[in-house]
Amino acid sequence: MKIYSKEDLNNYPLSLTYDDVSLIPLEISQVKTRSEISTKSHFLGFDLSVPIIASPMDTVTGIEMAKELNNLGCVGIVNRFDSSLNELFKNGKAQEGITAVSVSLTAEEKLISKTAESNLIICIDTANANNAFVLKKCEEIKSKYNVKVIVGNIAHGSTLKQLVNAGADAVRIGIGGGSVCTTSVQTGIGIGQVSSIIDTYFEKLNQKLDIKLIADGGIKSPGDVAKALACGADVVMLGRMLAGTKETPGEVIKYNDQLWKKYRGSASFGVKMKNEFIEGEETLVPYKGAVKNVVNGISDGLRSTMSYLNCNSLEDLNQLNNYAVLSTSSYLERLPRK
Ligand code: IMP
Repeated sequence: MKIYSKEDLNNYPLSLTYDDVSLIPLEISQVKTRSEISTKSHFLGFDLSVPIIASPMDTVTGIEMAKELNNLGCVGIVNRFDSSLNELFKNGKAQEGITAVSVSLTAEEKLISKTAESNLIICIDTANANNAFVLKKCEEIKSKYNVKVIVGNIAHGSTLKQLVNAGADAVRIGIGGGSVCTTSVQTGIGIGQVSSIIDTYFEKLNQKLDIKLIADGGIKSPGDVAKALACGADVVMLGRMLAGTKETPGEVIKYNDQLWKKYRGSASFGVKMKNEFIEGEETLVPYKGAVKNVVNGISDGLRSTMSYLNCNSLEDLNQLNNYAVLSTSSYLERLPRK
C-alpha cells in the first residue's frame, strides 16, 4: 500500500474528504499516558485548551453556548440571526466570558465598533470569502480598529494571499461540506474537505502567510477532528457535533418518545423566513445534554490519536505526513457492525 504524504494528497487526482483517508501510525510512540499530551493552542490572542470553535449558527451559538465554551477553553462565535447580539451588548459593553461575534456584510458600524472596543473577534459571516465586497469590509474594519477578523468561506487556497492582504487573521475553509448545506446541490460548487484544507495549508506554507486555518463543515466525529488538524488546520469549526446540546439556543422537543433539538443551516428557510434562494436545510438532532461532554469526548479522542501517532502537541499533529487513501471496502471495515 502506498503511504501518502501531505504533498501526495495535495496532488491526488480526485478531491478527498474525511472518509477517504485515515492516519497511519508509523513509529514507536513515546507517549506513556494520554494525559501528558497537550491539545493547547493559541488562536487570535486566546489560549485554547481544545482547538474547537462553535459555528455562528442560530441553533448552535448564542450567549450561553459562547460562555460555556469559553469556560472549556474553546471559542463560540455568537450568531447574528436571533436576538443574541442585542442581549450581548444590552448594557453597551459585551458581557463577560464572550470571545466572538459574527457580523453580516452590511452590519451597522455601531455593532462593529462595540465588538472591537470589547476586544472580541469579528467573524464576517458570509458564504463566499472570494468576493470583493467581503475583502473591502475586512480592509475597512482592520484599518479602523485593532481587532482580529475571521473571513469565510473558501474551498481552495488560490486567493489566500489576497485575503491576508485584506487583513484577514483567520479563514474558514469549506464550501459544500456542511451537514445541513445544500450549496453543492444548488450550485455545483465545492470540493472535499481534506483536499480543501491541504491545498490551503500548502498555499499558506509556500507563501509564508500569517493566517489561521479553520476547518469548517462536514466534521462528524472526534476522528474527523483529528484528520482535519493532521491535514493542516489550526482549529475546527463545528455545527452539528455541538447542535442538540443543552447550551444551544432553542427548546428541547419531545417527539416519538425521544428528546431532540432543532438544527438548521444559516441559509435555510427557517432562518430567512422569506422567499429567497435557499442553500440550507433544517432538521432535528438528538438532545445531547451538556456541551462539556461533547468537548471532553473530542479532547479524549484527539489525545488518543496523538498517542498513536507519537505527537505531544498539536504542532506535531499538524505536520503529520503519513496517510492512507481508503478503498470503499476498507472504509466500511472501519465502521462498527451490529
Ligand atoms: P457541520 O458541522 O457539518 O454541521 O457544518 C457547519 C458549517 O456549515 C457552518 O460552520 C457553515 O460553514 C456551514 N453552513 C451553515 N449553514 C449553512 C447553510 O445554510 N448552507 C450552507 N452551509 C452552511
